[in-house]
Amino acid sequence: MNAVGDAFDWVIHGGEVFTEGALQRCDVGIRGGRIAALAERIDGGLQRFDAAGRWLLPGGVDAHVHIDQPPNPGSAARGAEMADNFESGTRSAAFGGTTTVLSFAPQFKGRSLQSALDEYHARAHGNAYVDHGVHAIVSDPTPDVLERELPGLAQQGCTSVKIYLTYEALRLSDRQVLDVLDACRQAGLLTMVHAENLDCILWLTERLERAGLTHPRYHEVSRPMLVEREATYRAIALAELVETPILIVHVGAGEAIEVIAQARQRGLPIHAETCPQYLFLSSDDLHGDEGAKCMCSPPPRAKENAPSVWAGLNQRSLSLVSSDHAPYRFDETGKLKYGPRASFRFIANGIPGLETRMPLMFSEGVVAGRLSLADFVELCCTAPAQLYGLHPRKGEIALGADADLVAWDPAHQVRLTNAMLHHNVDYTPYAGMDITGWPMQVWVRGVLTCDAGRLVVPRGGGQFLQRERSAAVPHPDALPRRKWEP
Ligand code: URP
Ligand code: ZN
Ligand code: ZN
Repeated sequence: MNAVGDAFDWVIHGGEVFTEGALQRCDVGIRGGRIAALAERIDGGLQRFDAAGRWLLPGGVDAHVHIDQPPNPGSAARGAEMADNFESGTRSAAFGGTTTVLSFAPQFKGRSLQSALDEYHARAHGNAYVDHGVHAIVSDPTPDVLERELPGLAQQGCTSVKIYLTYEALRLSDRQVLDVLDACRQAGLLTMVHAENLDCILWLTERLERAGLTHPRYHEVSRPMLVEREATYRAIALAELVETPILIVHVGAGEAIEVIAQARQRGLPIHAETCPQYLFLSSDDLHGDEGAKCMCSPPPRAKENAPSVWAGLNQRSLSLVSSDHAPYRFDETGKLKYGPRASFRFIANGIPGLETRMPLMFSEGVVAGRLSLADFVELCCTAPAQLYGLHPRKGEIALGADADLVAWDPAHQVRLTNAMLHHNVDYTPYAGMDITGWPMQVWVRGVLTCDAGRLVVPRGGGQFLQRERSAAVPHPDALPRRKWEP
């Protein structure tokens, strides 16, 4: 089939396009920011791009990033400043082939969810290069939050919340978790859970500190797998009690993946995300003078754990891959805020990874033969869009979808250095890794944004996304009555 090209803003021709689950030789016509035609040959077009030798894939959807979050002393940040604002964070997203990011609006205790969302918009508005949406972090589930704010959240385009079972400033009790899960169920919201057992962590940390074992490598010792496994199991049990889906974020431990797989086998609507750090870093990286650079929670595990994470992806116990980009510099504004020899307890948790997520997964997944190209697209683009209420607009190359497109050179070889990245962090934990395959051109809603290493638009083109209900969440009108309900 041929299409007439004059009506198109862009025609991308001569490439192989990932559509309907496979790479196919076809041209793409873009009009008004959307994919308007997919045809064997499209002539004309106001602008044309010759994609010969390129694979045209959907823009990445990174559903878990921390950008320009206000510091909160008892949280993962430990009072450190985030190095990325929406300009640098989304610039780095675009260069890495990610065209949609979902970031967080953290509620501070004693404050409303609305104040958190207002702060998010003030920071993001007019600054982003890629489209962005927001999850609310619930740290203080007061009656007003449960009865008024959560039910109103979806109308503001925010259809997911994150809760924590760890961090003193954020941890909810089991009773509070039940309340939030129930309110989210009624409101049609997806609840994301950070599953680590705070009391176990504090108990172990106290003992490690008393023994003088405060180096970053003890961060992992203070959070052994069972800390993640127990909290994962508990989160699943609480969700089962409430009869509502949850999505467990940044799952890295094989033991936690096993618990998730068992729950899914029982038919429970449990979803889980992993991140590149659980595939490409290990607890060995926490050793040495720069161990703090790889400190995140949950921590990277022993090298032998990584195959369980690949297996979890292949079997879909893990449904999506996000970066959990948490941009702290390796200086006194970030990781070293309390000095170069501070106890691991005072070091900001989190690592940068927004720009490297897609290239790492492409290279180590697709090129290395651990994932098919269809797996890669599903895990990094389509599933996050579906789970967070953005599909079919995002996550797929299909007629009518947003023209968020990435032209990959599947053979381009790169040795990663921090200097080649576009975030504002002064390091990447992946420096020195050899990557095959690179995103060369990136279109955000039909606007060419990155072209062979150059940024070709001003900031501000990225739009706030009013998200729909997650595909994993039932409509509130269709909820079954629970045994104990009148
Ligand atoms: O260590 C991490 N993961 N930092 C970011 C905050 C979070 O809990 O996701
Ligand atoms: Zn978390
Ligand atoms: Zn996070």
